[in-house]
Amino acid sequence: MRLIDGKKISAEIKSEIAEEVKKIKDAGKKIPHLAAILVGHDGGSETYVAFKIKDCAEVGFKSSMIRYENDVTEEELLNKVAELNSDDDVDGFIVQLPLPKHISEQKIIEAIDPSKDVDGFHPANVGRMVIGLPSFVSATPLGIIELLKRYKIETSGKNCVVIGRSNIVGRPMSILMSQRGIDATVTVAHSHTKNIKELCSNADILISAIGSPGFIKGDMVKEGAVVIDVGTTRVKSNKTKSGWKLKGDVDFDQVSPKCSYITPVPGGVGPMTRVGLLKNTLLAGKLKN
Ligand code: GUN
Repeated sequence: MRLIDGKKISAEIKSEIAEEVKKIKDAGKKIPHLAAILVGHDGGSETYVAFKIKDCAEVGFKSSMIRYENDVTEEELLNKVAELNSDDDVDGFIVQLPLPKHISEQKIIEAIDPSKDVDGFHPANVGRMVIGLPSFVSATPLGIIELLKRYKIETSGKNCVVIGRSNIVGRPMSILMSQRGIDATVTVAHSHTKNIKELCSNADILISAIGSPGFIKGDMVKEGAVVIDVGTTRVKSNKTKSGWKLKGDVDFDQVSPKCSYITPVPGGVGPMTRVGLLKNTLLAGKLKN
């Protein structure tokens, strides 16, 4: 069994991005600028956005954070999106999800200029990705593809099972895995799937993105499979300073002895998601400037 070290690969990619930023700076060009809108005080969202801002500083990007309280109106948010769309200094921006119930996430996403949509959530980017055109791709699937490439994991003709069909992870992941050049045969499993254990047991590559800690047990995984654990459920812990720890979808102790490759949680997919956003922001800056 080989551990897929997302922490190490993400550090490598960050230093590659930092090199590029240095070149951009040395050429007297504008350095990439990421803006993030955060609504409310959800613990997870606060942490994720703080990481995104920290990552920008690490690679030399400019970043800004715009905060609103939970009672912000949809109109106020749409006005801010319009302002960021026309702000030439901002190369890309994200609106951290989830948003309060009185705001339509889809309406906000569709208001973002697709050329600044570094989350890759706008239907124009999703559609371009589906038909294999250059586009911004959602950060987690982008990061996972990068991990498979850097570990030279064979994907062509392999049976890939993706569990979960969210717009952010499962759906784009399943589409990317079947694309030309990756060429896996993909099955998408979800809450209505009946024979999940049998399906998973046939997977050469199993990608789980359901957010159910320890759901994937040893008897669901084929000998020699590649297992990618996207689950990052925050559970209370008295062993960490923050009082929280992250738990993956995979029962690591049971599953890892059977795998050829496996991503740990933490330190697998998570750091690659962060790098995915940096890659998209660098691309947005390059395309615009
Ligand atoms: N909430 C959970 N993941 C994400 C993400 O990748 N982008 C945004 N904007 N919100 C999220």
